Amino acid sequence: MKVLVIGGGAREHALCRSLSLDPDVTALHCAPGNAGIAEVARLHPVDALDGAAVADLAASLGAGLVIVGPEAPLVAGVADAVRERGIPTFGPTREAAVLEGSKAFAKDVMAAAGVPTARSYLCTTPAEIDLALDAFGAPYVVKDDGLAAGKGVVVTDDLATARAHALGCDRVVIEEFLDGPEVSLFAVTDGETVVPLQPAQDFKRAYDDDQGPNTGGMGAYSPLPWADPKLVDEVLQTVLQPTVDELRRRGTPFAGLLYAGLAITSRGVRVIEFNARFGDPETQVVLARLKTPLAGLLHAAATGTLATFPPLRWSDGAAVTVVIASHGYPESPRTGDPIEGLADVAEQDAPEAYVLHAGTERDADGRVVSAGGRVLSVTATGSDLTSARRRAYRAADRISLEGSHHRTDIAAKVASD
Ligand code: AMP
Ligand code: GLY
Repeated sequence: MKVLVIGGGAREHALCRSLSLDPDVTALHCAPGNAGIAEVARLHPVDALDGAAVADLAASLGAGLVIVGPEAPLVAGVADAVRERGIPTFGPTREAAVLEGSKAFAKDVMAAAGVPTARSYLCTTPAEIDLALDAFGAPYVVKDDGLAAGKGVVVTDDLATARAHALGCDRVVIEEFLDGPEVSLFAVTDGETVVPLQPAQDFKRAYDDDQGPNTGGMGAYSPLPWADPKLVDEVLQTVLQPTVDELRRRGTPFAGLLYAGLAITSRGVRVIEFNARFGDPETQVVLARLKTPLAGLLHAAATGTLATFPPLRWSDGAAVTVVIASHGYPESPRTGDPIEGLADVAEQDAPEAYVLHAGTERDADGRVVSAGGRVLSVTATGSDLTSARRRAYRAADRISLEGSHHRTDIAAKVASD
């Protein structure tokens, strides 16, 4: 099978890495990709947001499977454009991707499906905003209703900050604060059958001890030794299947990757958010543990045949990823800084540890330089979280990128040193 992956972040690098290890994949292409993906896939300089251009590329390559990675092309209808050419495509329709694109729509679907989530108000006027902030009290949770790559959310004890963020949005969801650890659970679905993957934990704040602003995610680990072994089944029954059923009932079936961001509160599991795509950086650790070849699974979802797909196989071991972010991330990331040490990791730490590229490119001299806020996702596997964590940090320490920062406490609480 010839596979084309759309996107160019560490998530797409993780997808391409897994696909490159899948014996059923005869050719691997990516658009636009990045400097790291170029080592496992052929890159094409096609705009990921241009549905017609992506569909043309897929057709010209004879792709048997197209995987649309990021939310922006999904919300722009790129998966629809490719599917219209009769090419199996992994990624929801534009209409179903609104589940991620609009927080208000997601709340409406959850209410209809009886899915547990934070109580919330959708506000459009300053008076509604003040009423909602007052109703819930601190900590305030204020979410821009539009797509904001995980950065439209402000959680703060400070009323003035909460109010200022809310007033800056056209439509804003203000909701109850959910206490308790967060879990990211992904499910592959063809619109009917739902196959959950293994849960992971993401670290959303920029700095150690969950300090600093929210980011797209600074690191992740899997499995979650503290989680109830019945968690995945429970979330399948109470969250994932009802949501997929409700979207099908509405005539906008959701096929692709359903990402449930969950809070495990003292009153039970609550959905924080849905995304319509693989999470980044959680994908890096989830796919590191998936033993089932990836192309067949995603192809089954794209062709409506998940019901007969064999049960997934997982490694018993663990995986940890640490994101290296550029100077100034998330507020004002600096780009163009050279990255050193990649070859050292490849020579000394592979195959257990490896570097997945997010925002990287080659400059005119052929050097790999930073090209985005999150630059690298240093990933490692091990027999347990302690060894995976040790390997990930040993590899991360070999990398140098001027002015970069990374968290030092990814998976620290679940490792034994
Ligand atoms: P979201 O984009 O909705 O995932 O929000 C980003 C992050 O903000 C989440 O991962 C949480 O850490 C935090 N957050 C969002 N909603 C809530 C909530 N209701 N209670 C507590 N924290 C939240
Ligand atoms: N890591 C969070 C996200 O992908 O939205």
